[in-house]
Amino acid sequence: MRLGVNIDHVATIREARKTDEPDPVAAAVLVELAGADGIVCHLREDRRHLQDRDLYLLKEMVRSHLNLEMAATMEMTDIATKVKPDMATIVPEKREEITTEGGLNVVNNFDLIKDTTMKLRESGIIVSLFVDPDLEQIKASAKAGADYIELHTGKYAEAEDAKTQEEELEKIQSMAFAGVKLGLGVSAGHGLTYLNVQGIARLDKIEELNIGHSIISRSVFTGIERAVLDMIDLINN
Ligand code: PXP
Repeated sequence: MRLGVNIDHVATIREARKTDEPDPVAAAVLVELAGADGIVCHLREDRRHLQDRDLYLLKEMVRSHLNLEMAATMEMTDIATKVKPDMATIVPEKREEITTEGGLNVVNNFDLIKDTTMKLRESGIIVSLFVDPDLEQIKASAKAGADYIELHTGKYAEAEDAKTQEEELEKIQSMAFAGVKLGLGVSAGHGLTYLNVQGIARLDKIEELNIGHSIISRSVFTGIERAVLDMIDLINN
């Protein structure tokens, strides 16, 4: 299973002072050197962490795989088709949220998401849709022309007891099978930590995990290379 590391929170620290350190682009280089399979970043409409400058530099610097999380807006589609990351992951975005809450509603916003998916694919970008482990959303994702789905693991991560966690795990597993059956690649992420990642890492058919907050948090104490290596070890063992 591959690991994509979301480096947004390095930019969050920088933006707390509106200064030039720490630099998320430097973080991306170290994350790659530590052995991660890709870099994930989210250019939000309100630019609360990553800035346009970061994205352009990441495109130049990242040698592995660059996955841009973006809202399905004209502004972001224009930027993505100019920058051409390897992959774009369409996510829902609300100004007042602290982080991405819940998956994309592909069923209710089908035309917009299909249109955005088509524009991105036409410019050579692989498209992933960030959805809850829900069969209707996964079917709609395939119909919209997506290459991948990223299954939202938030409910699994936040489960307060073992039974709920096991139920969420089973749901994610069966939805990963459903995605593959519909011809989609499957990744997963959100809320994964050093304590809960192994449940997901044991599942079949999930190609990649995208993890941000937990790795950047640990890196404050251990350094970013150690933090990435520790996560890779947990995923692979
Ligand atoms: N995947 C997607 C689509 C996300 O929006 C996020 C959060 O930016 C993540 C993965 C990573 O989540 P976390 O920071 O909780 O690891």
